[in-house]
Parts: sequence; C-alpha cells; structure tokens
Amino acid sequence: MPNDLTPPSDAFAKSAHIDAETYEKMYAASVADPEAFWAEHGQRVDWIKPFTVVRSTSFAPGNIDIKWFEDGTLNVAANCIDRHLATRADQTAIIWEPDDPNDAAKHITYAELHRETCKMANILEDMGVRKGDRVVIYLPMIPEAAYAMLACARIGAIHSIVFAGFSPDALGARINGCDAKVLITADYAPRGGRQTPLKSNADAALLNVLHDCKVLVVRRTGGQITWMEGRDHDYAELRLEADDHTPAAEMAAEDPLFILYTSGSTGQPKGVVHTTGGYLVYASMTHAYTFDYHDGDIFWCTADVGWVTGHSYIVYGPLANGATTLMFEGVPTYPDAGRFWAVCEKHKVNQFYTAPTAIRALMGQGDEFVTKYDLSDLKLLGSVGEPINPEAWNWYNTVVGGGRCPIVDTWWQTETGGHLITPLPGAIATKPGSATKPFFGVQPVVLDAHSGTEITSTEAEGVLCLKDSWPGQMRTVWGDHERFEKTYFSDYKGYYFSGDGCRRDADGYYWITGRVDDVINVSGHRMGTAEVESALVAHAKVAEAAVVGYPHQIKGQGIYAYVTLMNGVEPSDDLRKELESWVRTEIGPIAKPDLIQWAPGLPKTRSGKIMRRILRKIAENDYGALGDTSTLADPSVVDNLIENRANKG
Ligand code: PRX
Repeated sequence: MPNDLTPPSDAFAKSAHIDAETYEKMYAASVADPEAFWAEHGQRVDWIKPFTVVRSTSFAPGNIDIKWFEDGTLNVAANCIDRHLATRADQTAIIWEPDDPNDAAKHITYAELHRETCKMANILEDMGVRKGDRVVIYLPMIPEAAYAMLACARIGAIHSIVFAGFSPDALGARINGCDAKVLITADYAPRGGRQTPLKSNADAALLNVLHDCKVLVVRRTGGQITWMEGRDHDYAELRLEADDHTPAAEMAAEDPLFILYTSGSTGQPKGVVHTTGGYLVYASMTHAYTFDYHDGDIFWCTADVGWVTGHSYIVYGPLANGATTLMFEGVPTYPDAGRFWAVCEKHKVNQFYTAPTAIRALMGQGDEFVTKYDLSDLKLLGSVGEPINPEAWNWYNTVVGGGRCPIVDTWWQTETGGHLITPLPGAIATKPGSATKPFFGVQPVVLDAHSGTEITSTEAEGVLCLKDSWPGQMRTVWGDHERFEKTYFSDYKGYYFSGDGCRRDADGYYWITGRVDDVINVSGHRMGTAEVESALVAHAKVAEAAVVGYPHQIKGQGIYAYVTLMNGVEPSDDLRKELESWVRTEIGPIAKPDLIQWAPGLPKTRSGKIMRRILRKIAENDYGALGDTSTLADPSVVDNLIENRANKG
C-alpha cells in the first residue's frame, strides 16, 4: 500500500478554515464533550425556536433511538434561501449547465431561487400536499429538481427522490413504499445526447400504484407525451398563476426531511429517513470544512440529486452555506471526454467533487482532454463513492489538480447524511487511497469481524463501526424501525455497523477496503446482489441465479451473474441479451449484469445454502483460494463453473 504523505501547501493551510492544530483541538473537544461541541455548532443554522436539548441517542439493543436538537424548530428552505436574501439576493445560488454545451447555462440567483421555490411550494399546496405528506421526485438534473426539494422542505412535505435512471418498476415500488401524494416528473431527461422518456416511465409506474397519486409535469424538452386529464398537472401553466410568497413551515428538528431508498444485503431497497435539524447542521458543516468552502467560491459536485451525494452536496449543504453550487445535467464523456474540464474552465470552478469511476474512465482517454483547458481556478478536488486506487489518485492530483489541489477522499454513506471519514484539506496530510481521519464528533472503531471485539491497537484490520451518533445519522427505515435495528445494530451490539471493512495504519489513518456484506459497488453506486438475483429469477426461463461482484477496471466492481436455466431451456447469446435487458427494465441500466455465466448447478451446502464465497473467487479468477469445499453437496459443480467461467472480455 502506498504510504506517501502529501501535506497541504503552506499557502493552502494558511487560508484554510481548519489547520492541523485546530483539527486536533476541535476533534478532541468534539469527542470529549459532544453536548458542548454540538450545542455550539448547532448554531450554524437558524432556529425558529432554539433547542435546549442537544441530543438523546441510544444504540442499545431493543432501544435504537436517535434524536438531535429535538426541542428546536426550524425550516430547511428558509435556512437555504431566505436567510441569505439580505446579503446575497443577487448572488448566483445555482449555476445550471445543460447536457448540450451549445445550449445556454443558467445562473439562478438567491432571489430567483426564493421565488421559484415559493411558486413550486404553492403549486404543491394547491395539489393538496400538506405537512408530513410524501412527494416523489423523478426528474432530470434541472433547476426544478432543486426547487422541488426545497419546496417540499418549505411546506414540511417529505421528498423521496428516485434517480431518473431507474425503471418504471423501481419507481412504482418507491411511490407505493411511501404512499406518495404527488409525483413530480418531466417529459424527457436529456443525458449524453440521448433522452430518457421520464413521463412514459412514470405512466408505466403508476399502473402499479393503487392509491391516488397526482402528477406534476415539467416540460424539459417539449417532446411528445401522453396526458391523463385530472391526474396530470402542467408545471409551466400552474407556475404562471402561482404565488411567489409561500410561508416556510415551522418544523420540529426531528420531523423527516426526506426518504432516500438504498440497497442493502437482503431484500428490496430500504427507505433511509433523514430528519430536519441534525441533517442540515451536519451537511452544511461538512460542506464548509471538508471542501474548505469560502464565500464566493464556485462549488461543483458532479453527482446526481437522485443519490445522497446530490442531496447533501449539490443542494442542502452548499445552499445552507450561501454558496454557489453547480448543477450539471450531462455526463463526463459528452460531447467528448473533456466535458468536465470544459465546464470547470467555463464556470471557473474552485472545488470539484466526483467519483473514482469517472476519474478512471477519463484517465484512459488521454491527458490532452484535460490539459487543453485552463483549470487554474481549481483549489481542491474531492472523491466519493468507492475506494480510489493510487493510480487514479495520482492522475487526479497531477493532471487535473496540477499538483496544487488537496484531494479529499470522503468516506460516507446514504445512511450517514454527510462525510464521516475525510481529510480536512488544510489540516491533514493525505495518502493516496486513504480516507484518512474522522470528521468532528465521529468515533470510528475497528472490530474483529468474528468476535465483534474492538481492536484498540493503532494498527488494526476488521469491520468499520461507529461508536456514537452524529447529527447527520439516519433515524430509521421508513415504516420499518425493526429493519433499521436489524440492519445496522444487531451484528455488533452497541455500535452502528457500516457494512464496510477497513484497515487502520500506524498513523491512525483509515483505509476502506470495501463492503463485507452482499452489497456491491458498481461505479460508485450501491447495488444489492439480492435485488439483481430476484430480478433474474422473475424471468420465466430462469430457475435460479446468484450474483456477486468482481474487480472491474473502470467501474470498480462489475456485476457477475451465475444463472441456472429452467429445464429444457438452451443457453444462447440471444437469451443472454434478453436477460440483460430484462434486468434493465426490472431495476434500471445500472443493474445490468456485466457478465452472465450459465451455471448448470450452483455450489450449495448440504442444507441448500449457496456458497457465495466460492462464486466470488471464481468471478475474481482466483481459483487457488477457493477454501474449504468439503461441505458442498456436489463438489463437481465447482469444476464445471471454473471450466466455463465467463470471459471478462
Ligand atoms: O462501501 C462504501 C462506499 O460506498 C458505500 C456507501 O454507498 P452509498 O450509500 O451509495 O453512498 C455513496 C456516497 C456517499 C460505503 O459503504 N464508499 C463511499 N465513499 C467511499 C467508499 N468507499 C471507499 N472510499 C470512499 N471514499
């Protein structure tokens, strides 16, 4: 493992919010007296009624209960917009860069953001949405996505965003899952020069929704769509009449702000619930410190608002800080592999935050796509979603950052609301591939995976857990608190279990080694192997399926599916394609298997349990390490699988 320490330059450290000494002091204070620390930092947001109780949190078995600032009241939209109006009404809040570089970018000021959010809030109220109601958002990366989120927050509705790449089935399940009153969608989503028909996906999804769900349609392209009178509402039309002043509702700190579905190791995706006060404090504080954001900087997070990264670091964190945040509709390779850098130059981006999968893909296209642009405004680079390999780190550092921009490798999860382990760029020397040190108030521990005991030596390897709560922590699984406890607090009692493995080195730096459960990380997106398996077995020709991850050069991990066909069904290339497109329609393109291997049988124990460990090894091409196969019901199954291993191509 590379261990080179890269300290921030003196110039960077000098102007940073947090230098090395301050980090040590503040971190020590944050864990010695969390109440006092968060009582102070809870003030970074505006409260309608100030809190008097900082926290009441319990990880005790049978009583998982997490509350922060519980007697305070506030409004997230007021914090992200209204409170800036006195000083920043004419400052750009959102720079919107469209998919097609020939179309004009938009600069939306805080005053405009206020007006548009109020209008959207007013439209939602007129459609019957009230405090506590759920609204599903299925939109492209357009400013209306931010208006919709903030409009919900303004009136106290709970939003649940569904990534526009998800299929109608996945969308329908999420609308049903939270009993949404309104679905906000668009006609089409342009991306990389192609268009996803969102409205027709929404129409298909709603066929499986039995409750009354109204639809608000944004015209992004003006393309042809079908219309259901009474159910469908035209945003452009309603916007003309809508009031541009809608009062911000007074919300309790623990009222839910949003639900966001994410994959786990078992069953269908679960609705992660984040609440109002703690989430906003944490998203805004991590945005300010991790990215060393200064007033006037242009901040760009390339994620989609359909993922937690987009929630915390395109919308809520930056806007709570009065930042200028860039929202990009397109993809890194359209019209060519220089698009990210063209956008950085065009909008004078100062902090740029993306995923290793994008860096790896662009790195392979040649340096000239980067070097032809003027990237001298960049001050800091960020990475998120998966471990970054040292080769990609070095390229990012030298070619993109010109060796002068600290790289913050931020480890966190949908469940954590914001960064948990990350360098603070003016304080912590980085090492390629390490997320380095915990953020304030975060207490990571490394447990022995089998015994569950805490490894107290500095050098340690095991599973990564958190010993105590932080304000941005998820509060529950929507409608299923028991599942919350079972998923995160039952394997290792008294701790929050992240699902990740990790190593702590002699300097106390953390290195995330990847998931230790049946979750795979494909291009920085989380995918439950169980989900892909259940999609595959829903196909009439499939008897059984087992899905594992395997190392993939660009995606980090690829999806490897072992498929046993029904008796009498012959394998063929056509059937392979049919299954690939089946999974695309069942879940979405991100779940499409990269490799399908026809498996006459799967390795099972005598009690019928599939031995995934073996399947993982075969997929990784690591036959020497198959381990004990003596408990297999039929060991010859393994030989057959090895002989016919799918070609990585
Ligand atoms: O395995 C870790 C990986 O992504 C998982 C969380 O995925 P998700 O909830 O979709 O959120 C992604 C964006 C926050 C983690 O359990 N992961 C995330 N960031 C890193 C990472 N692995 C290594 N290094 C990271 N910086």
